[in-house]
Amino acid sequence: MEIAVNSPLRVLGIESSCDETAAAIVEGCQVRSSVVATQAEMHRQWGGVVPEMASRAHVESILPVLEQALKDANLEWREIDGIAVTHQPGLMGALAVGLSAAKAIAWKYQIPMVGVHHLEGHLMSVLADRAEPVPMPHLALIASGGHTELVLVRDWGDYSLVAQTIDDAAGEALDKGARLMGLGYPGGYQIQEHAKQVSSSRYKLPIGVPDEDAAWSFSGLKTAVLRLVEKEGSAINVPEAAFALQEAVVEALQRKVARALETHSVGALSLVGGVAANVALRTALARLCSARGIDFLVPEPRFCTDNAAMIALAGARRLNLGEHAGFDLDAAPNAPIQDMNG
Ligand code: KG4
Ligand code: ZN
Repeated sequence: MEIAVNSPLRVLGIESSCDETAAAIVEGCQVRSSVVATQAEMHRQWGGVVPEMASRAHVESILPVLEQALKDANLEWREIDGIAVTHQPGLMGALAVGLSAAKAIAWKYQIPMVGVHHLEGHLMSVLADRAEPVPMPHLALIASGGHTELVLVRDWGDYSLVAQTIDDAAGEALDKGARLMGLGYPGGYQIQEHAKQVSSSRYKLPIGVPDEDAAWSFSGLKTAVLRLVEKEGSAINVPEAAFALQEAVVEALQRKVARALETHSVGALSLVGGVAANVALRTALARLCSARGIDFLVPEPRFCTDNAAMIALAGARRLNLGEHAGFDLDAAPNAPIQDMNG
């Protein structure tokens, strides 16, 4: 099938790498629809994502989510120019559900399909409903439940890793801390809402930057929260504990970013991934960028947490370049940043 390079493609994005089943349709950078069915409620009782249950829930949600995305965009299948599907990294069984759906639609309606790296989706989420181009090069902080990476984006498709966590991800630290404090899953939002109730904390938690030049480390934070919870028992002040945890994560992220901005000459910093929905982090990094006179790019919260609009945006660029995947496109649970280059 021919792809019209000059008119914006209408691309269907499909995302099922973890615990969100999502479908979206974009046209250029305009998001025509974005539907997300979250499984958070189901996984809450276990305190985290149960892979087998996630796969099963994706199977149940995928068709209604796809139909809703089409309906919200007021389109029919034959009006879709391309399909973009997350094929790596993520939970194997979960990825396979989105991939099978993408292949079935591509085959039935003869629509070109392309595989998207989940993290390239997050990086390109800043394009959602954006009219102006994104400054290049820029630094991008990906902070989610599974990732904490600082990436130099020279251009779309040209990425290099500047820093990463050596153990837990920032979102994972918030989720585990929240769980220890008896708050719900996913914990990041709960931490934010409890922290909001106070403006300081009597507790001090370690900042996860063991050596200013090395990577982040958030696993010590989990141990520190565990000790705090054990020591304080029922006397613990939960809002203040949440405040201390949020502050420790924000401070660690901010310090590393500030340092990287000294060594990389960039016109902008972007903040993406689920933790980018955090108001304290958005505020801290916006301040950092304004002090340095560079742009701060952050998607609206619904495009920070997992969604399919970001996958459609990343896939649209690849489809425009003539990239096509065959029906042998495979899911891969692990995929380094370098796999996104090209
Ligand atoms: O990007 P995402 O939806 O999924 C992954 O790819 O991991 O990120 C989920 C993470 C979870 O750790 C969740 O607690 C965190 O994003 N999160 C937040 C907020 N909303 C979601 N963390 C802090 N503040 C929030 N408002
Ligand atoms: Zn994600």
